[in-house]
Amino acid sequence: MCGIVGYIGKNNAIPVVMQGLQRLEYRGYDSCGIAMMNSDKMILEKVTGKVEELQGLLARQKMSSSVAIGHTRWATHGPPTISNAHPHTSQDGKVALVHNGIIENYKVLRDGLISAGYEFSSETDTEVIAALVSQAYHGNLEQAVREALSYVVGAYGLAVIHTDEPEKIVCSRKGAPLIMAMGDGEFFVASDVAAILHYSKDVIYLDNEEIGILTPDGVKIYSGDDEPVDKKIHKITFNLEEIEKGGYEHFMLKEIFSQPQTIFDAMRGRLLPETGDAHLGGIDHMIGSILHADQRYFTACGTSWHAALIGEMMFEQFARIPCEVEYASEFRYREPLVDAKSIVFAISQSGETADTLAAIQEAKTRKATVLGICNVVGSSIARETEAGVYIHAGPEIGVASTKAFTSQVTVLSLLTLKLARLMGMSREDGLEISQAMQKLPENVEWVLKQADQIAEIAKLYSDASNFLYLGRGVNFPVALEGALKLKEISYIHAEGYPAAEMKHGPIALIDKSMPIVAIAPQDKTYDKIISNIEEVKARHGRVIALATEGDTRIKDIADHVLYVPAALSFTAPILNVIPLQLLAYYVAVERGCNVDQPRNLAKSVTVE
Ligand code: M6R
Repeated sequence: MCGIVGYIGKNNAIPVVMQGLQRLEYRGYDSCGIAMMNSDKMILEKVTGKVEELQGLLARQKMSSSVAIGHTRWATHGPPTISNAHPHTSQDGKVALVHNGIIENYKVLRDGLISAGYEFSSETDTEVIAALVSQAYHGNLEQAVREALSYVVGAYGLAVIHTDEPEKIVCSRKGAPLIMAMGDGEFFVASDVAAILHYSKDVIYLDNEEIGILTPDGVKIYSGDDEPVDKKIHKITFNLEEIEKGGYEHFMLKEIFSQPQTIFDAMRGRLLPETGDAHLGGIDHMIGSILHADQRYFTACGTSWHAALIGEMMFEQFARIPCEVEYASEFRYREPLVDAKSIVFAISQSGETADTLAAIQEAKTRKATVLGICNVVGSSIARETEAGVYIHAGPEIGVASTKAFTSQVTVLSLLTLKLARLMGMSREDGLEISQAMQKLPENVEWVLKQADQIAEIAKLYSDASNFLYLGRGVNFPVALEGALKLKEISYIHAEGYPAAEMKHGPIALIDKSMPIVAIAPQDKTYDKIISNIEEVKARHGRVIALATEGDTRIKDIADHVLYVPAALSFTAPILNVIPLQLLAYYVAVERGCNVDQPRNLAKSVTVE
């Protein structure tokens, strides 16, 4: 979602902040801006559109400053215009502020300020905080920020500067991520480590309601109760190459092709192929509680929710333990039947999704044990959960999640295997499954070799307006995921359906302009899916079938066939989703879409 970068130190802040904003572009945004101190004067520049344009503007002005805060905005309150772009300033021009999150009571606060004579220049919720800070300022910025935030209901990650204290940045967070980082005589604040990784790997994760103060002499942090806090400095272990394209045209393509490695990394040291078992260090001590819980829930959003659906089916089919999946955004509104005997798994790539964090809070309030399955180390969800498993997929930059999905499913498979063995799965079955999992990276390589064929098919269908994805059993969530990938990045309307449901409604849509992607592996539903394909063909629909290597029968019915290696239902979802990721990618490229930063979307959705 929105991005924040701030710098104070011995060097010119402008290139640091601008480079940071560029590194955050992948998160999605529609406008951007920077505020900097020039002796005790505030200078403000904002543009709608690309960071590049802001950079060009600043280059022409040849400015330098040792203190600056910058922002990329993804519009929530008010359209993407220059006046709505951040930083926002107070009416007297002394305060500048950048903010991620949403202030829920902004209307009441704004109306109150307006009746007291305050004039606003934007439609944003953020400007209200700048106004409150300005009104609370009596010579100490951190105190003013603390007071201003005491009036605010909602989520925030923010950084503020004031012309009366030109050598200071004050920052704080609640429900939106914010980190501080230390360099040699220079200090940073950012909403994402990627923004400052070029300069520092020594990072502090701010906790909710903490206030951070950055000056040229160092950083200080105070708790919500205004007590000094001694925070741990975390060493970031990933490097810049991991967040660069490495020769691929897009991050998404790089991430699709990295899956043999990322799946291997998710299993490393966890899969036990000699005994047909698995162990997951982060939650092994919780296995008894998971098995004996009264209720088990998975909660997540988007692609992570699709992974959760697969997890549910695997838990039930192989471990024979029931579990439910709920959209994180719905979880707290449905009065979930969750109590101290419940286990809730929160699944999230970013670990910062506001809806998922809210679901975690709800589960915790109801005394459930909450476990995380996360990618980003040190993220809010990783810290808010009692224990958990990292998927180790490395930084995912493309807004459309690909490698995180297959790593989430890999971790859920390992967890299922562990639970299934404890619930009586035989050693032989465990060995068969673990050996199939061990072969996954090699099999994914095999599927990836069909990229050129998929690119050719994509050319034929890139002008379609609608797509239908059909799958049965564990391939139904795969169909949902394939459809989500396509709509996110190509803007083609796509729907995923359980194949048999087609005849209960969507069949009405089928004509010769409607491509159908049918996931038809040779498993127990094969004959039924073949009948569904026949039904589509009888209505002149065009079928792209995903079939098991060696299946010749399907060639006679489908218009195109993409093959995947024969797989157990345990490993099938991972193999089957890869061609769908590639199909979505090549269709989007063919349509000239911005694959890595699709319109209106953000990498991590930090608003509810
Ligand atoms: O970071 P999270 O896994 O919590 O994100 C959840 C969704 O926002 C995310 O999966 C979204 O649907 C992606 N754009 C899918 O590609």
